[in-house]
Amino acid sequence: MPEYTKRLLSLPEYPLGKIPQQKRELIARGLDVIDLGAGDADLSPPDAVLERLAAASRIPTMSRYGFALGLMEFREAIVRWMQRRFGVSFDPLTEIVPLIGSKEGISHLALAFVEKGDVTIIPDPGYNAYIGGTLLAEGEPYKVALRPENDFLIDLDAIPADVLKRAKLLYLNYPNNPTSATAPKEYLEKTVRRCKELDIVLVYDNAYSELAFDGYVPPSIFEIEGARDVAIEFHSMSKTYNMTGWRCGWAAGNPHLVGALAKVKSFIDTGTYLAIQAAAATALDNSESFVPGNVAVFKERRDAAVAAFSANGFPCQPPRATMYLWLPLPANIPSAVFAERLMQDEGVVVLPGSLLGKGGEGFFRVSFITNPDRIREAANRAGRVLKKLSAQAA
Ligand SMILES: Cc1ncc(COP(=O)(O)O)c(C=O)c1O
Repeated sequence: MPEYTKRLLSLPEYPLGKIPQQKRELIARGLDVIDLGAGDADLSPPDAVLERLAAASRIPTMSRYGFALGLMEFREAIVRWMQRRFGVSFDPLTEIVPLIGSKEGISHLALAFVEKGDVTIIPDPGYNAYIGGTLLAEGEPYKVALRPENDFLIDLDAIPADVLKRAKLLYLNYPNNPTSATAPKEYLEKTVRRCKELDIVLVYDNAYSELAFDGYVPPSIFEIEGARDVAIEFHSMSKTYNMTGWRCGWAAGNPHLVGALAKVKSFIDTGTYLAIQAAAATALDNSESFVPGNVAVFKERRDAAVAAFSANGFPCQPPRATMYLWLPLPANIPSAVFAERLMQDEGVVVLPGSLLGKGGEGFFRVSFITNPDRIREAANRAGRVLKKLSAQAA
């Protein structure tokens, strides 16, 4: 058998990889399992989307290869939606690339811009496709810790000059998974400006742009002056429309950036099932009638989570966006130890910060993916584990 490549061996263990197996073991032990781990809600996509998928699946041509072009209607619906939502316009053929979920595109982008000796700048903790894409392209990830002290933002000017010189991509994700931080407009303006000066592509992961509360409206990077020159933005159908398993998203940007990703993809995949692209077009065209109600469900869960976790010894503020709470732990309780005890003793799955990157140590992530009663129950159990571990550490 040939040896594994260095690039394969460079990949870390996948953060969520072991959880399904561990959950099965807990259920087999008779525990009442509450899974607040993955960002994968128990909610349904819009009715109109389900109906469109059913109808589209009966049209024979929908079962053919989508190829890189995919369904023109989907591209056009994306362009309409971006215009309505952010007031920015794109050419559907040269400035949009449909994706098999945004993860796929985020990960493949590095193949177009990164090679050995190049650096990518990555938030730590951060979504796994940033490091995965970089390492598979044989690039060198430079991790920047997202901490409360820096408002969970990456300051390019705090990065050594020799690193910046070799940097090709900066991955930014606001609203942020896992910290639920948002980025002020001035920060985005400054970062776009610096990326331009430094000749770095700004990879803006906007998977949570529609999951925001209390009047906060997350921007597109393209609302920032100059972003067209340096940024590519990734969008996902997954969280906004409860379509995680459907595998559908897109990237938008100038033809130089989008075309490069499209070219890589043309040698790797043949597009998402066309009936799903048709259903996604329906979702986007009917966004305004579905999203507010769906966000209200997440808001109720968020409020329940904030109240219940605060009451159980995890003081926190309501996040303005995403489906996550990023909860601090006492300094003497490592996040992996806490999450393991919570899972083994109480059957509650959360993500320890350290699993999402060294910079995530001292925190754990809770997802609002189940109903408020179950979230409250999970918080009570987390409180019991916190008391037990605090007593042991004292
Ligand atoms: C920050 C972030 N980006 C991208 C994705 C990928 O979304 P998808 O591939 O389902 O479109 C996720 C999913 O959890 C995410 O949290």
